[in-house]
Amino acid sequence: MKFDLSYLQPKERASFGLRALYEAAGCRKYHMGRFEEYGLYQENRSFLSSEQVITFTDLDGRLLALKPDVTLSIAKTAQPAAGETLKYYYHENVYRPSAESHTFKEISQMGLEMLGAVGEAQVQQTVRLAAQSLGQMGAAWVLEVSHMGYLFGLLDALAVPENARPALLGSLREKNAHELRAAAKAAGLDDAGAETLCGLLSLCGGYEETLTRAEAFCKNDRMRAAAAELRALAEPLEAAGGSIRLDLSLAGEMEYYNGLVFQGYLRGLPRPLLKGGRYDRLMQKFTPGADAIGFAVYLDELDRLSAPLPPVQQQKTEKTMLNVALPKGRLGDKVYDLLARIGYGCTEDYNATRKLVVENPAAGIRYFLVKPSDVAIYVEHGAADVGIVGKDILTEASADVYELLDTGLGKCRMCVAAPADYQDDPSRPVRVATKFVNIAKNYYASMGRDIDIIKLNGSIELAPILGLSDVIVDIVETGTTLRENGLKVVTEFLPISARFIANKASYQFKHKEMDEMLEKLRDTLQEAAK
Ligand code: PRP
Repeated sequence: MKFDLSYLQPKERASFGLRALYEAAGCRKYHMGRFEEYGLYQENRSFLSSEQVITFTDLDGRLLALKPDVTLSIAKTAQPAAGETLKYYYHENVYRPSAESHTFKEISQMGLEMLGAVGEAQVQQTVRLAAQSLGQMGAAWVLEVSHMGYLFGLLDALAVPENARPALLGSLREKNAHELRAAAKAAGLDDAGAETLCGLLSLCGGYEETLTRAEAFCKNDRMRAAAAELRALAEPLEAAGGSIRLDLSLAGEMEYYNGLVFQGYLRGLPRPLLKGGRYDRLMQKFTPGADAIGFAVYLDELDRLSAPLPPVQQQKTEKTMLNVALPKGRLGDKVYDLLARIGYGCTEDYNATRKLVVENPAAGIRYFLVKPSDVAIYVEHGAADVGIVGKDILTEASADVYELLDTGLGKCRMCVAAPADYQDDPSRPVRVATKFVNIAKNYYASMGRDIDIIKLNGSIELAPILGLSDVIVDIVETGTTLRENGLKVVTEFLPISARFIANKASYQFKHKEMDEMLEKLRDTLQEAAK
């Protein structure tokens, strides 16, 4: 009896297809144990996406870890001889912390690594295989390519000090122009330098057209060398079909990758399905003189493909619908009014009904009315393409989304506040009441001060009045609530306003619609500010 592949889950089907693809490309399967010596991760902490690893003691007392990553183990064990290229693929499970479930998750990964002599031919073959891996999944795909050499070359040209680079890369990763500009200034760049750095954010779009602009934007040899590598990839990538985009603000994981980086998206999945790049520096820690390039496919993401699209999100017209998570309440109303003025209004008044979905197919817009504190969740998970959310909620949730615009609406600030006669007692931890547990923890950690957190859900100002806490961490707008309850601001540490955020995968497939909305929104906000 012939086995019918359609009975398989998408990720099982994909693993068969990928295996055939990698074998045909001359790669050999690399099998590893589940465990690895913990020391490997301790020594290479900066190469991991999280420092949290599951550890246990072996029968002979060695400290082992359940593998959080495959690349490190392959780089350590494979020992290519001079001039040799080892081509491996793997299918393994890794164990990483999951912020959502507050525990560790078993993640099924397939991947490919080329180690040793890695020249133009191997780079092209790897990127082509990445594109073909996406092409096998049976859905529209986008491969987004960038080059860390281009990015670091620009930072060199602008003489950005080493210690300021992580903050700049963080803002670049979020496509956060307003914070990138502020971080550039804080790093000592003048207006022209900050403007040049922000120019990187516009080097994003179709491969050929963006590359031509990127070549003209080069400031030094490092950037030119990176652009030349990208140019050499243009032809093989075009031959791969699908949609290839160049995004020179894609910053990758800073320490891991040193050259080409890429990410693959599939329509219908909220997160990248594939991530990869060149990691010569990591490889050279284990084998001097050897280079490496590779990628991983996150097979579990494919589970989402088998679920049908909910009726409310199905396309009803030719026009691509942009799904907006709109916060219920005053801020949402303000933003909706703005959007309605620039052509994104609906005939139905959502305030007159209890409906949670309103839309205008002709304008290509659909609103989901959600609790303000949930906006980032809907967007991060791809249930909405874009959303409007306060910076307080966004920071607290540390959502993995693009932060495309500071609307300047709903301005307030995050503060530590306390009774007027409050004096800090350094002999014990500060008792802090707040709704914003992560923000408070991070703030006090940055000050090196121990705290006890008391999580409340509202009326925070009551806590110090009743002796439940010493201080509060909360948002202050007019200061009336503090004043009327006998409290004062001790420190202001985070300016807040409403931000326009986008799901990273939606940005790949609906960038035209999003850019159009952003452009109009920016113009209207500027007009209103005059
Ligand atoms: C927020 C915040 C403060 C108040 C500050 O409360 O938690 O209590 O606004 O505004 P003000 O400086 O203009 O007085 P919110 O209305 O969200 O209610 P909450 O008590 O549920 O947090």
